[in-house]
Amino acid sequence: VSELSELILGRIRDIPDYPQPGILFKDITPLLADAEAFKAVVDELALVHAAGADKIVGIEARGFILAAPVAYRAGAGFVPMRKKGKLPAETLEETYDLEYGSATIEMHRDALSPGDRVLIVDDVLATGGTARAAVELVRRAGAEVAGISVLMELSFLSGRDRLDGVEPRALVTV
Ligand code: PRP
Ligand code: MG
Repeated sequence: VSELSELILGRIRDIPDYPQPGILFKDITPLLADAEAFKAVVDELALVHAAGADKIVGIEARGFILAAPVAYRAGAGFVPMRKKGKLPAETLEETYDLEYGSATIEMHRDALSPGDRVLIVDDVLATGGTARAAVELVRRAGAEVAGISVLMELSFLSGRDRLDGVEPRALVTV
């Protein structure tokens, strides 16, 4: 276990029965509030995972928290994927199942250019439904998925097996 993963794991809080009975929620807000840990996470994603990426895609809402500073630090552009109905211009959309419920995400049709190398960033990889939809949107826009990076992978949900050829990278796996 690396120094970075210790820094992260020590600042993720388990909340039982949220948002539903039987779900153990991994709360990253203590990590975000810790200046040293937040910087270490953003730097690792920006300087290692995002190397060579032209654009960083962030997934609303929790993905934005990491993806925007990662884009800034990496010197890459930031592209939001948002929940349906929030983006004003013409969009591409994907509907997917979540660990609890279902959702549709959208991206502006012109947000990426063919040939763009894109790193997708989110906080958590759980069932993989969200990340899979993000991969699909990037590819439909004609761009290349350079990677999917998350702060935390919940390995017991096997999300990485649903990602259609892309190997996700996680800073910690639980
Ligand atoms: C959570 C989390 C990831 C996604 C992972 O987002 O932030 O985006 O679920 O789950 P999956 O791998 O099973 O798809 P959520 O949709 O709850 O919304 P939020 O980010 O807006 O809080
Ligand atoms: Mg999310």
